Amino acid sequence: MSVRLFPSLLAADFAFLGDAIREAEAGGVDGFHLDVMDGQFVPNLNFGPRTVEACRRVTTRPLEAHLMIVRPERFVPDFVQAGANRVIIHAEATPHLHRAVGLIRELGAQAGVSVNPGTPLQVLRPVLADLDLALVMSVNPGFGGQRFLPGSLERVRTVRRWLEEAGRGAELEVDGGITPATAPGMVTAGATVLVAGSAVFGGNVQRNLNALRAALDA
Ligand code: DX5
Ligand code: ZN
Repeated sequence: MSVRLFPSLLAADFAFLGDAIREAEAGGVDGFHLDVMDGQFVPNLNFGPRTVEACRRVTTRPLEAHLMIVRPERFVPDFVQAGANRVIIHAEATPHLHRAVGLIRELGAQAGVSVNPGTPLQVLRPVLADLDLALVMSVNPGFGGQRFLPGSLERVRTVRRWLEEAGRGAELEVDGGITPATAPGMVTAGATVLVAGSAVFGGNVQRNLNALRAALDA
């Protein structure tokens, strides 16, 4: 299985984040996905760079910050400083997408751009050559535990095709509603990184990871 698993800590118990990270690490995950929400770009509010820094202290695995915030460029330096290896911003959240992607890379982190289910994928094209990762949202962002939107399969196929045409080795990530039932289709469509929140941290982490892996190996 060459696909990478980045569990979203949004579904973990925030009082015991360190334990959740260690448990998932023991289960062999490839890195961690940290969802950051500002109550404006998405209708939910949670944490900032200090939490990323706290996670950084308990793991050496890659950390990616998924910034669901308006004008993400304002906070990119803080998240890189906090230890995020990859910073993912939303195409809808800034009029200066190209500049923001450049800023992330100048600061030495990998740059990712995410698109909501209702956003034309075309917004990715002008920045595709500069990206380390493209993220196709498979739910409307803001909350964990939502139902996977089946239309996202076709969207993943489209971005996969563009990446092939451009000869880019960038990662293609999907986020939202990923479970043992939906993960295999996403990989077939061309995803290389899967984010899963409730399907990893809802219940027994080892068992959940085994179920995800078994589905992918089937
Ligand atoms: C949605 C977040 C996701 C979320 C995924 O706003 O970007 O990362 O935590 O959670 P599940 O896997 O439960 O859909
Ligand atoms: Zn996310």
